Amino acid sequence: MIIGIPKEIKVKEDRVAITPNGVKTLTKQGNKILIEKNAGIGSGFCDDDYKQAGAVICNSAEEIYNEAEMILKVKEPQPSEYKLLKKNQILFTYLHLAVEKSLTKELTDKKITGIAYETIETKDGKLPLLIPMSEVAGKMSVQIAANLLENRNGGSGILLGGIAGVSAGKVVIIGAGSVGINAAKIAVGMGANVSIVDVNTDKLRQADNMFGSKIKTYMSNEENLKELTKEADALICAVLIPGYKAPCIITEEMVKNMKKGSVIVDVSIDQGGIVETIDQITTLDNPYYEKYGVIHYSVANIPGSVAKTSTVALTNETIKYVKNIAEYGLIDAIKNDYSLAKGVNTYNGKLTNKGVALALNMEYTELPSLIGF
Ligand SMILES: NC(=O)c1ccc[n+]([C@@H]2O[C@H](COP(=O)([O-])OP(=O)(O)OC[C@H]3O[C@@H](n4cnc5c(N)ncnc54)[C@H](O)[C@@H]3O)[C@@H](O)[C@H]2O)c1
Repeated sequence: MIIGIPKEIKVKEDRVAITPNGVKTLTKQGNKILIEKNAGIGSGFCDDDYKQAGAVICNSAEEIYNEAEMILKVKEPQPSEYKLLKKNQILFTYLHLAVEKSLTKELTDKKITGIAYETIETKDGKLPLLIPMSEVAGKMSVQIAANLLENRNGGSGILLGGIAGVSAGKVVIIGAGSVGINAAKIAVGMGANVSIVDVNTDKLRQADNMFGSKIKTYMSNEENLKELTKEADALICAVLIPGYKAPCIITEEMVKNMKKGSVIVDVSIDQGGIVETIDQITTLDNPYYEKYGVIHYSVANIPGSVAKTSTVALTNETIKYVKNIAEYGLIDAIKNDYSLAKGVNTYNGKLTNKGVALALNMEYTELPSLIGF
């Protein structure tokens, strides 16, 4: 199979879809790998590393999109990339289509098989391609909040870990999944006063078993959120309902009642976010703004700023799906693999993810009815 890897063009996105080691695995399998010049630079991999692994270096994204049967990316195609996508191509990347109506139309109009990393799901409900980036974003979120709390950034001047004789800052984490638990690891490690909120008691139980008396756990409901947001120095938002738009559970009123100079890091912004006062996705080079005296951070590609760790972690998880598609062909690979089938959001002009269809008010078609399984 001819597999193309363009350079990412989202602002300050330094990840790349594959490491040189990943390329070696795919070329050994007999595939032709086209990679755009300097695509790996931000992740610490130069063109020579890819050449030695067997890839062909291309000077432009156009060359790659023109020739490749499958495009491997990190972030969803940006509007300037739409015209490059070719009819019937396979696109394997994070898509987050629930908040990307024009991209969804582009993919269905061109009959592109859009396979979203974030909706690949194992039978026991795990999201293997989301987990590593969630681990990164979770750990980064507290680092980011600690930084924004510094006076020079407009924060309240609170050191999250506190010191002898001065209390620690309060970190409230909403969502006890991969992002939330990793945020808690860092916040607890810093010595902050940590609370975790979820709607799922099993998730709260797991957090309680993991951290014991170092955290407090709360059921996610309006009353608890009202109280917890009032006290928070850093509010980390880490909610997910897979495939669906995130629920808006932090209201404008709650934000107005937060402490001046406190910080919200809405990691769930890639699915629309959970904060009423966050109406924009910010970028890594202009990542935050202030509203009602509260700093709002809403970057949708946080792992892009620790690109080396993230690129290696991503390739570790994506490579087996790429290998299977190349070896068995798209249809058989999907038929043989429940998780991969869950990743297919668009196929042959149809929208095949229920959550996305609901969020975008578009027609949903079951994938098995299209490819017969
Ligand atoms: N901004 C970024 O750069 C970035 C990077 C990685 C992940 N993410 C996003 O972060 C979000 C969280 O990802 P994750 O891997 O931790 O998901 P996850 O599925 O592991 O965890 C989500 C948690 O949210 C909980 N939840 C659902 N509804 C809730 C509610 N109303 N109140 C409280 N909790 C609720 C679930 O029970 C679950 O425990 C996703 O949207 C993901 O795409 C963003």
